Amino acid sequence: MDEPLRLGIAGVGVVGGSLVELLRRQRAEFATRAGRACAVAAYSARKRRGPASSLAEAGFFENAAEMAATADIDVFVELIGGAEGAAFESVKAALARSLPVVTANKAMLAAHGLKLAALSESHQAPLYYEASVGGGIPVIKTLRESLAGNAIERVSGILNGTCNYILTRMETERMPFEACLIEAQRLGYAEADPTFDIGGFDTAHKLAILASLAFGSKIDAAAVSVEGIETITLADLDAADELGFRIKLLGVAERTPHGIEQRVHPTMVSKSAPLAQTMGVLNAVSIDGDAIGELTLVGPGAGGAATASAVASDIADIARGTRPPTFGRPAAALVEADRVPMQRHEGGYYVRLAVVDRPGAMGAIALRMGERMISLEAIMQKRASKEAAAAGVVPVVLMTHGTTEASIRDALEHAVRDGVVREKPQLIRIEREAF
Ligand SMILES: NC(=O)c1ccc[n+]([C@@H]2O[C@H](COP(=O)([O-])OP(=O)(O)OC[C@H]3O[C@@H](n4cnc5c(N)ncnc54)[C@H](OP(=O)(O)O)[C@@H]3O)[C@@H](O)[C@H]2O)c1
Repeated sequence: MDEPLRLGIAGVGVVGGSLVELLRRQRAEFATRAGRACAVAAYSARKRRGPASSLAEAGFFENAAEMAATADIDVFVELIGGAEGAAFESVKAALARSLPVVTANKAMLAAHGLKLAALSESHQAPLYYEASVGGGIPVIKTLRESLAGNAIERVSGILNGTCNYILTRMETERMPFEACLIEAQRLGYAEADPTFDIGGFDTAHKLAILASLAFGSKIDAAAVSVEGIETITLADLDAADELGFRIKLLGVAERTPHGIEQRVHPTMVSKSAPLAQTMGVLNAVSIDGDAIGELTLVGPGAGGAATASAVASDIADIARGTRPPTFGRPAAALVEADRVPMQRHEGGYYVRLAVVDRPGAMGAIALRMGERMISLEAIMQKRASKEAAAAGVVPVVLMTHGTTEASIRDALEHAVRDGVVREKPQLIRIEREAF
C-alpha cells in the first residue's frame, strides 16, 4: 500500500515525544519492515506544540476523544495515562469508530481491560498494549503470540524500576530506604508522590495484565494481593545475603490447586535466579511454560525511548494488518479466575523477630511453630543494637520450610500474645527456586 498509515497520537510527553522522534529517525527502515510508511497526522496534548516542533504539520486537538472520533487517521495511539478521563474516553471513541488502538496505559487496562477487549472485538479494531508492561521488554507479544503453544504455569517479574532501583541501592550501598527513595526522586526515577510505585500498586496493574494473558482469565486487578517495599530494612537485606537470597519486589501469578494466585510483595529470591540478578532500574519477567520450561526476559522497564520502541512495534503490527485478540483469545473465552486469598499461599517464609531476652522465649516461639507443623530451616540470632539491648530484646531471624500463610501468621500472632515477641514481626515470602 502506498499511502502512509496516518497516526493520531494523544499525549506527546515522555513516551509520545520519544515516539514522534523514533518514527522520524526510523522513517525509511520502519516503512520497509512494516510494509508501509507512517506519518503523524494529528496529535492531542494539553498545550499545542510550536512551529519549530516536529508536530507543526500535524493537526492539533485539545480534546483527545474528539480527535479519536473525528480526525482523519488510521490508528489511534493513546499515551496520556490514567485509568479514566481523557485516556479511557478517547480509546473508547477510537474503538467505537473501528480504529486500531495502541496504548501504554496499564492503569486503564487493569481497570477496564475486559470492557475494552469486548469493544475491540465487536468493532473489529485491534487493541495493542506492548508498552504497558515492562516498558521496552516485548513481554506481551511473547505471552500472547510466541508462547501460544504452552500451558503457562507461572509468570513472575520485577515490574517496577523505581522499587528495584531502591532495593538495589539499599543493598549495594547500605543506604536506608528513605535515603534511597530521595535519591530515586532526585534522579527522576520516582514520582514526587511515590506511593503508587513503592506501595506495589503499579506492579499489581502490570501483573493483572500478564495473568490474563498467561491464564486466559478475565483481567481482575482487585484479585491481586499487594504489599510494598516500605518496611524493608538493611537488617532484612543483610540477613537475606547471609541466607543466599536477594530481596526483590515481585509480581507473581501462579496456577495453584486453589486457583490462580496473584500477588505482589517483597520476596526472598535465590541469588542464582535470573530475577535476583536484575539490578537497578531494569525490569525482568520469568515465564514457566510446559513446553518451553523457564524463559526470562530482562530489559529497560521505562524511559521514553525504550517505551516508544514497544509502541512502534505495535504500530508496525497494525501496518502489517495483524489482528490478535486483545488477551490472546476471544473475550467470550476468557474465564473467571478463582480468587485465591493470601492466607492459602503455601511456601517458605523469612521471619525477623524482636525476641524478649529471657530464658524460654525461643522455646515458646518454637512451640507455637510446632503446634502448626511449621518446621524451621534456619535460626540466626543477630547482635542486638544498643537500643534493642536497652529495650531487652534480641533480633532473631528464622527461615521456615514450606507452610501456609495462615499457619505462620497464626503462630506469630500467638507468639506476640504470649509476650515473647515485641514489635510487629517482619514476614517475607521465599520464592520457589529457593527451596
Ligand atoms: N514514562 C515511562 O517511562 C512510561 C513507561 C511505560 C509506560 N508508560 C505509560 O505511558 C503513558 C504516558 O506516560 P508519559 O510518561 O509519557 O506521560 P507524560 O510525560 O506525563 O505525558 C502525558 C502527555 O499527555 C498529555 N495530556 C495530559 N492530559 C491530557 C488530556 N486531558 N488531553 C490530551 N492530552 C493530555 C500531556 O500534554 P502536555 O504535554 O501538553 O502537558 C502530555 O503530552 C502512561 O500511560 C504511562 O503509564 C510510561
